[in-house]
Amino acid sequence: MAAMSTLAILEFPDPRLRTRAAPVTVFDAALKQFVADMFETMYAANGVGLAATQVDVHRQVLVIDMSEGRNQPLVLINAGIVEKDGAQVYQEGCLSFPGLYADVTRALKVKVKAQDTDGREFLYEAEGPLAVAVQHEMDHLAGKVFVDYLSPLKRSMLLKRLEKQRKQAASA
Ligand code: NI
Repeated sequence: MAAMSTLAILEFPDPRLRTRAAPVTVFDAALKQFVADMFETMYAANGVGLAATQVDVHRQVLVIDMSEGRNQPLVLINAGIVEKDGAQVYQEGCLSFPGLYADVTRALKVKVKAQDTDGREFLYEAEGPLAVAVQHEMDHLAGKVFVDYLSPLKRSMLLKRLEKQRKQAASA
């Protein structure tokens, strides 16, 4: 197998984050390599989820690992929600918004239909924080980001803070 490599992560407000991803139609070695690179990128950045959109690949691929041991990788390809239930508020972060966190309300449970890297279909049910991650990453593939759910005031406060952090980082 080829060596894994980390990919560059797009940061908000990069307009490419607004791209809608197309379905994956070819399940080949290149796809497996891309998924391996996505995991490598997510783990290197200490993230719990990553969508292909964030690495400027506009295909419906997302990876998640919310385990403490970083040993429960989940990959969902062409994921679609078939059922959702309940509501929860969870403080979310995003690798495309370094250092920014905000409470977002989402479904408590989701059931999704997805495919694995061989193209096999399966149903996946998630609840709580894992359900948050699935919904957050699926949003990326539709060109949506978590701050879209905030009130205009809250969003502008957060984005000002992000801008300030960037300036500080640039002058450090
Ligand atoms: Ni994100």
